[in-house]
Amino acid sequence: MDVFDAIQARREITAYTEQEIERDVLEKVVDAGVFAPTGNNLPSKNIIVVQDRKTLDQLAKTTPYMKWLEQAPAAIVVTGKSHISKYWLQDASIACAFIWLEAVEVGLGSAFGAVYNAHDERESEKRESYVRNLLNIPEEDHVVAGLGLGYPKEEPKPKKHTPRDQVVFYESVSNEKGE
Ligand SMILES: Cc1cc2nc3c(=O)[nH]c(=O)nc-3n(C[C@H](O)[C@H](O)[C@H](O)COP(=O)(O)O)c2cc1C
Repeated sequence: MDVFDAIQARREITAYTEQEIERDVLEKVVDAGVFAPTGNNLPSKNIIVVQDRKTLDQLAKTTPYMKWLEQAPAAIVVTGKSHISKYWLQDASIACAFIWLEAVEVGLGSAFGAVYNAHDERESEKRESYVRNLLNIPEEDHVVAGLGLGYPKEEPKPKKHTPRDQVVFYESVSNEKGE
């Protein structure tokens, strides 16, 4: 699949069939995260694959917005190491994006559950420590996100994108119209 086709086809998929994900398919998705670039090429992330049903059900309770993990046959949790790189959040986020896109290529659906957030330190710490305890993640690592994975059960409704001229500017963001 062409990269741009995958980018255009990618959606958040929150309903999955019971079909198991084949090992080689799952590992390919994981590798997309492994091969994602990092700032200064530092080893600033971990990628944790979860397939145990009980653990997935517990992971679904990390935030009120990850309930879809109760249906998912697998999850990938991506963590970032702020003690290794100042770019840990970007590194982990790019890995998540690569994982999401590779899921499209192999015919899987994926959903993104944000765990870390920069605006509410207390809530972020609460959610992160819940996942740390569940998956034996070192205290100093940030839990950036948990992605659900599974074969899609339904197709999302067509998406309305933010108008391009509200997003893209050339040379400078010079006025409200972007002219
Ligand atoms: C940084 C980020 C955080 C997100 N957090 C959640 C989340 O906690 N739970 C969830 O169900 N979806 C979450 N999403 C998915 C978005 O809601 C979804 O990508 C968005 O509505 C656009 O839909 P699309 O992915 O189908 O294009 C998140 C996506 C991003 C990029």
